[in-house]
Amino acid sequence: MSEGGPIDTLEAAHVGAFETSEAFARHLDAIDPVRGIAAEFLHPEGPFDGRALYFCGHSLGLQPRRTREYLGEELDDWASLAVQGHLAARRPWYDYHLRAREALARVVGAKPDEVVAMNGLTTNLHLLMLSFHRPEGRRRKLLMEKPAFPSDTYAVKTHLRARGFDPVGDLVEVSPRDGEEILRTEDVVAAIEREGDSLCSVMLAGVDFLTGTRLDIAAVVAAAHRVGATAGFDLAHAAGNVPLRLHEWNADWAAWCHYKYMNSGPGAIGGAFVHERHATSNLPRFAGWWGNEPATRFKMQLIPEFHPVAGADGWQLSNPPIMALAPLLASLELFDRAGMDRLRTKSRVLTGYLEWLLRERHGDEVKVVTPSDPERRGAQLSLRFPKVDARAVVLTLRTAGAVVDFREPDLIRVAPTPLTNSFLDCWRLADIIGPALKGAHGVEVVGGFH
Ligand SMILES: Cc1ncc(COP(=O)(O)O)c(C=O)c1O
Repeated sequence: MSEGGPIDTLEAAHVGAFETSEAFARHLDAIDPVRGIAAEFLHPEGPFDGRALYFCGHSLGLQPRRTREYLGEELDDWASLAVQGHLAARRPWYDYHLRAREALARVVGAKPDEVVAMNGLTTNLHLLMLSFHRPEGRRRKLLMEKPAFPSDTYAVKTHLRARGFDPVGDLVEVSPRDGEEILRTEDVVAAIEREGDSLCSVMLAGVDFLTGTRLDIAAVVAAAHRVGATAGFDLAHAAGNVPLRLHEWNADWAAWCHYKYMNSGPGAIGGAFVHERHATSNLPRFAGWWGNEPATRFKMQLIPEFHPVAGADGWQLSNPPIMALAPLLASLELFDRAGMDRLRTKSRVLTGYLEWLLRERHGDEVKVVTPSDPERRGAQLSLRFPKVDARAVVLTLRTAGAVVDFREPDLIRVAPTPLTNSFLDCWRLADIIGPALKGAHGVEVVGGFH
């Protein structure tokens, strides 16, 4: 199909070999090693073989078919067993959270004891900052990116203020250089080195929500540790999207959500990582009974002192929310079936292919803001439209059956997600975006969500 002959594996696919024909998209789908997985999800209805072109996995992932079954089983067990379900349900509720951790650990590159699904993302940011941002003497600053996702900025500023620190003087915000919009890892590292022993901790996004840029987490951790600071990460846009090796990279902590690339439903339960070197540390924390040693958890009033269980589980507060964890199990099953390595191989080609098609077919009408280097991004492409109103492009695309989102003031985010999108989806999006670019004038504003 290309000059060098047909591509017969996705590993061999590269920009120089791409073609603009629909047949080429179908060929890539035929050699996609995880092509069967998309059928395990429910896709919104639309005009493309009955489906919409759904490119919003960076905001809300699609529902796995088995989610309903998993939830239904818990509802049935609740109906028939009531309180006895804690121990006698088909998946006993008492230690239900443990069912997620092996597969979750594979997604974020951790040991099973280092991860736990609990609370919501912003709650987990607060809980982990409390433990890992420990100002002392001159060492009192927290470093984060700017702009950050608003919830992170609010969390950090209110957290510092609530603990008696100054959300201005004790906060270092690192921005992209003048005239650039991608934050460079080297600039983060330089800022860390500049702050030196005044720096207490860093908290940064693993993948930037606006531009889809991937941070070099290992480099940031190494720099933070060199100056004696701890390193924590918000992986909302990274978990299930880009390769993560949290244990090997030595991150101190991380938190993320499961509603985006992790497909666990709106407002899904959050995730947290605590490196095993902190597993038995006596870091201060806000405690609750589910973080206590299981052996004494039910001694209740007899042992009022908190004895944390070793590992990330020791940061839990409440007993596991079964209806929130069931969808996570259904999704993790599919991550295990696909395998993170195969998903990443597909993701690199899928995103590269969509970017190439947009440039090839629409030239300077579409500007890709996300870095082109596959190492510096995951599935998301952030687009700008110099000649038309981006809000109108979103609406016109929606009318044509494609779901993408808009971020103020002028960005469209599109995520070709390897679990749920095909190469044909990308081809079709690039195809219908042409007319959308012509018809996109003067339509009302629509907002993005996450
Ligand atoms: C980077 C980032 N941080 C924080 C949040 C807030 O998450 P939650 O509402 O689960 O606390 C989001 C939500 O999308 C996010 O993308």
